[in-house]
Amino acid sequence: MRNVDELIANQKPGCALEQQFYTDPAIYDLEVERIINRNWILAGHESELLEAGDFKVFRVAKESAIIVRGSDGELRAFANVCRHRGSLVCLEEKGNTRKFTCPYHGWMYDIDGKLTAARSMPPDFDKSEYGLNPVSLEIIHGLVFVCFSSDPPGVESARRELAEPMAMFDFENLKVAAYRDYDIPANWKLAIENYQECYHCATAHPEYAQMHTLMVFHKKREPLQQHMLDRMEACGLKNIEILRYDENAPEGEMGYLYSRTALFEGYLTGSKEGKPVAPLLGGLKDYDGGASDFGFGGFSFALAYSDHVVAYVFTPVDHLNCRCEVYWLVRADAEEGRDYDVDELVWLWDVTTDADKTIIVNNWKGVQSKYYRPGPFSGHESLEQSWIEWVLRELQRP
Ligand code: FES
Ligand SMILES: [Fe+2]
Repeated sequence: MRNVDELIANQKPGCALEQQFYTDPAIYDLEVERIINRNWILAGHESELLEAGDFKVFRVAKESAIIVRGSDGELRAFANVCRHRGSLVCLEEKGNTRKFTCPYHGWMYDIDGKLTAARSMPPDFDKSEYGLNPVSLEIIHGLVFVCFSSDPPGVESARRELAEPMAMFDFENLKVAAYRDYDIPANWKLAIENYQECYHCATAHPEYAQMHTLMVFHKKREPLQQHMLDRMEACGLKNIEILRYDENAPEGEMGYLYSRTALFEGYLTGSKEGKPVAPLLGGLKDYDGGASDFGFGGFSFALAYSDHVVAYVFTPVDHLNCRCEVYWLVRADAEEGRDYDVDELVWLWDVTTDADKTIIVNNWKGVQSKYYRPGPFSGHESLEQSWIEWVLRELQRP
């Protein structure tokens, strides 16, 4: 393997990454250490775990965490690794429990992570020293983030600056109406790069392209955007733009972004024919015909329509595989069957994510070829480009 620093130094500006960044397991190991385990990753919404003992398991690369509501009502995360000989402790995806029993030799932990039972251990064995290891967890206006580092980036800036846009859609009072995960047999970076550019939207996503104006040129979008801005206030929305991402991220803190873009005429939300699919969010009074993009760090994103939010997270599995998890969020008081239909709600981003999976895997196959050479980015791939630059900076951060 060529030295990573040398590889980074030779990386052509304005071009895709060199093959080795995608294919070399040693580079992946470095990414795990310096990027994947060091950054905040979206693990769901607080509303999934309301009662003491409600838990879910969250996996990223080589790590697995149990996220659990404690007896004091606090949400915490613990490494899902037994303090005896290291077995995974919790094999269920989610549920409610009073204790976690390790399937190997039966050590038991309570929902606050304390070891409560361990058979046949010597008399001087002190259970209080063998609780589950804590994992960093933060809640940002209802969204739960996990970081597998004891010294994670700060989230105060994101929490403060995103408070207003997140309040418009009342993120704190949403619930998960649907969740799906998509296994993508490709290097994780290709999946996130793909999410960050819409150069491919016109060719790969006819459903998305007929309603979202993101991939049309500025000139064509301008009147639509103006029309949306004119309507915004009456609909209960404010025009806010935040770009604290990549090189603009606050020092030592997670990067974030927010902006709103018009949908094409006639589309109120991201659904078939653009018709509402759930009750208006938060205090919104009407549809302005827009959709908001949120970015939270390098792995997690959300798209807020006026009546639902689609949250996206990309989690590496190993250097050859990753997972895309998608949450569809609606008002907490919306009732399935009466206020929304899951098939209607998920339609757009389910077909779009399936299509993305196909193009990402095709990309991955080509990238492994001996003929692959990093080509130049278009003007529609600037976010992807700055994300790659962020990746390279993180890789060099000791
Ligand atoms: S590894 Fe968990 S009880 Fe032995
Ligand atoms: Fe896509």
